[in-house]
Amino acid sequence: MLPKLIKYILAETPKSQETEIFGWVRTKRDMKNLIFIEVSDGSCFSCIQCAFDRSAGLDKNTEDALSALTTGASVKIKGRLVPSPASGQAVEIAAESLLIIGSAPAENECGKTPLLDVPAYPLQKKRHSLEFLREIAHLRPRTNTFAAVARLRSFLSFAIHRYFREKDFHYLHTPIITSGDCEGAGAMFQVTTLDPAVMKQSADGSSDYTRDFFGKKTFLTVSGQLEAEAYASALSRVYTFGPTFRAENSNTTRHLAEFWMVEPEAAFFELEDNMALAEDFIKSVLKAVLDECGDEMKFFDSFIEKGIIENLQKVAQAEFTHITYTEAVKELEKAASSDSGLFEYKPCWGSDLQSEHEKFLTEKIIKGPVIVTDYPKGIKAFYMKMNDDEKTVRAMDVLVPRLGEIIGGSQREDNLEKLIRRMNEIKLKTRDYSWYIDLRRYGSVPHSGFGLGFERFVQYICGMANIRDVIPFPRTAGQAEF
Ligand code: 4AD
Ligand code: MG
Repeated sequence: MLPKLIKYILAETPKSQETEIFGWVRTKRDMKNLIFIEVSDGSCFSCIQCAFDRSAGLDKNTEDALSALTTGASVKIKGRLVPSPASGQAVEIAAESLLIIGSAPAENECGKTPLLDVPAYPLQKKRHSLEFLREIAHLRPRTNTFAAVARLRSFLSFAIHRYFREKDFHYLHTPIITSGDCEGAGAMFQVTTLDPAVMKQSADGSSDYTRDFFGKKTFLTVSGQLEAEAYASALSRVYTFGPTFRAENSNTTRHLAEFWMVEPEAAFFELEDNMALAEDFIKSVLKAVLDECGDEMKFFDSFIEKGIIENLQKVAQAEFTHITYTEAVKELEKAASSDSGLFEYKPCWGSDLQSEHEKFLTEKIIKGPVIVTDYPKGIKAFYMKMNDDEKTVRAMDVLVPRLGEIIGGSQREDNLEKLIRRMNEIKLKTRDYSWYIDLRRYGSVPHSGFGLGFERFVQYICGMANIRDVIPFPRTAGQAEF
């Protein structure tokens, strides 16, 4: 029989039924005859309390195990489920036997562990800094914070799949290795089996990739969008949800080199439909989290970001504000002119909005989520649909307080001539994108899509300040441990 998870045991009616639990010891309190052990199996927030009563007579193995038991050890405990006299918990285990499955050496009074070369279990009962916990990313899921983030992340990805399934979007698996640069930003990780030290040069001095594994230069994908467009041009509505990679050397609290992206792409959707989808998507998934992750959300509200539940409830109800990039820049310029020290970078039409501008816009000007549209073509990717002004494109970014950009998307250029003209303008080799251009040759339709940074969404929901703390094993410039 499979072990029963603690979250189910805690929900049972205590009738002195025989119960067996498995988990890791969080605390041990030895009070002469009574010994209390709190055990967690990560299935829920609460630990289960196991009370050993020495005066009732315990077997020798259990007595020995109790004296050897330390925080972090894995255990199997048998006993009876009884009402708990303590406040804050309905039930506890009147424990009869204890088996240590795996010990976790602790420091003794001399600051040494019994086994000389085994360092002590680092998660002792005190508050550890998030920076310290990042160094022990393999053990941090045993803390309340990281267990809660992990459960939230898991639920959130399920809720996202459920949302798109209910809206008739098909889940599409796009390749991780690619030869194209979707965003044209050049921040890609190269994938090669060639040894750079012995790489042959072609006659023109450039490296010869014909001998490489794929016979050409390849990279880890920055986005599954282009391939998603191909499938949206056949199945109408698709979405991807997978890892994406960016070799941006930006050491910020909202950038990772490896992150997960959710990218819906829909045929016969114009920019307005795309905005409506993004808003409905965010609100529906937020509602699902608030309804179904109550314990985790209460924890984040108490310990990570006060008031976050109320804030997200409001967002899930309110209408998102829409503003064009041109209007947004005017607002930012106005704010900057009345306070010269407000921004590090001066807002200016034609330059990308800096994170400080995005945050000011959503936190101070709009005071809530905002969708910014119609950005200058020069700061957006080649595939975005040109507006009649020939200066701006049908782009949309969703900005939220605390983070700034959480979604980037657009209506796509579906006109063959215009797409080719734009690609030539910015010197993209059309022959490298011939299959993508084909989509405009054969049965082209208006279509749109967007990308949501999954980790930013997790950050937004749980209030964690640093993106490194919402992905199990973060990859950033200079950091690929574990
Ligand atoms: O705005 P981006 O670059 O858009 C695209 O990649 C489009 N191809 C998406 C589409 O239209 N299908 O990225 C989309 C989102 C951003 O809004 C941000 O939330 C997240 O991905 N993102 C990152 N998250 C963590 N670390 C990074 N380095 C990120 N770069 C982008
Ligand atoms: Mg973007």
